Amino acid sequence: MKLGRRITRYLFFIIIIIIAIRMNKITALSSVKMQKNSCPRDWPGLRVRFLAFDFDSTCTVEDTTGLYYKATETYRRASEAKSKVLDKEWESLGNTYLKGHKETIKRLLENVPYSENGNLSMEGLKSFLMETHNFDSECTKKVEASGLLSGISKEGIIQIAKNVQLSPGCVQVLGQVNLPLNVISFNWSKDLIQIVLGQLKHLRIAGNNFPTEDNKSTGQIDSHVSTSFDKEAEFMRLVEGQKEIEGLSVFIGDSIGDLLPLLKADVGIVIGNSNTMRKVAKAFGIKLLPLLDLYNRYGRCNSVQYDSSIVIPSTTDNNGILYEATSWYEIGELLLGNRLLPVTD
Ligand SMILES: *[C@@H]1O[C@H](CO)[C@@H](O)[C@H](O)[C@H]1NC(C)=O
Ligand SMILES: *[C@@H]1O[C@H](CO)[C@@H](O)[C@H](O)[C@H]1NC(C)=O
Ligand SMILES: *[C@@H]1O[C@H](CO)[C@@H](O)[C@H](O)[C@H]1NC(C)=O
Repeated sequence: MKLGRRITRYLFFIIIIIIAIRMNKITALSSVKMQKNSCPRDWPGLRVRFLAFDFDSTCTVEDTTGLYYKATETYRRASEAKSKVLDKEWESLGNTYLKGHKETIKRLLENVPYSENGNLSMEGLKSFLMETHNFDSECTKKVEASGLLSGISKEGIIQIAKNVQLSPGCVQVLGQVNLPLNVISFNWSKDLIQIVLGQLKHLRIAGNNFPTEDNKSTGQIDSHVSTSFDKEAEFMRLVEGQKEIEGLSVFIGDSIGDLLPLLKADVGIVIGNSNTMRKVAKAFGIKLLPLLDLYNRYGRCNSVQYDSSIVIPSTTDNNGILYEATSWYEIGELLLGNRLLPVTD
């Protein structure tokens, strides 16, 4: 009898503890959710007429090595010893580039007074981007001269595509967006992007492809889209084609090469945490605001009911204001609102 009572009491305590743990978990979860988006549940999504995004480090996890030399016939047929030599050669080119790139940016920013009054300096930004591009294209010439990228086959591209890591949520969110999905990329191979993002319907890619001879790359690099100015021009050209549709134009990018199209879009969204991006933005008076401010800008966060008759005005100039997203999930909530289906990675 006594033992029975003791067991009951014991069980009672265990149940209480389990309930407490559960409740704790639930409140913890909902507070995470609240931080992500404290907008009302009836947010119907941003009315978008045109959507474009960058590929490298925006929809992929950053890779600093570059994979293409591994797609050449030479590399794929190489002995272990030979492939090590090629790895070293590529690594050295890559390191020289990264070091020089960082130094160039540092040097250029030293000569820019940090925008104290906070005014946007488009002229300053453009000449800065031009100079970083000049450095980058010198490096591209060295890569061409090395011959390391000659003899890339379609099969080689298919193989390296398997090693590309996508950024969490990118494809899952974009797959739910019912619009043409425009990639505007500096990447050297549109074919690779097509393979990696191939599961997305309505995918359109503006970018480069390796020039070929007899279906093998020559080792040259196509420079069709190689500067921020090129990206901006592509963005403008594509957005023109969606003129008759009502809504906003959106560009999503992560790095300084994306700045010009980001600033041209009605809504420019910066994803990722590039330090250089933040420094450059500050230097030229570009404001980076949290994505939540975008909801507030249209007064939706305070309204209980979303009024679908209100058309969000399309501005031709975003006044140097960009928005920072911490994840593709956050972008999904902005674009799709309560229609966003659960995103699992
Ligand atoms: C293009 O994408 C591939 C795969 O993610 C990557 O290895 C490479 O560094 C990218 N960049 C360029 C300039 O091609
Ligand atoms: C910055 O903008 C303000 C108005 O917003 C203007 O009065 C001022 O002259 C600008 N400063 C510079 C250096 O352009
Ligand atoms: C190149 O590829 C195409 C299509 O894959 C094929 O029809 C053509 O015969 C190939 N050319 C050479 C020279 O291998």
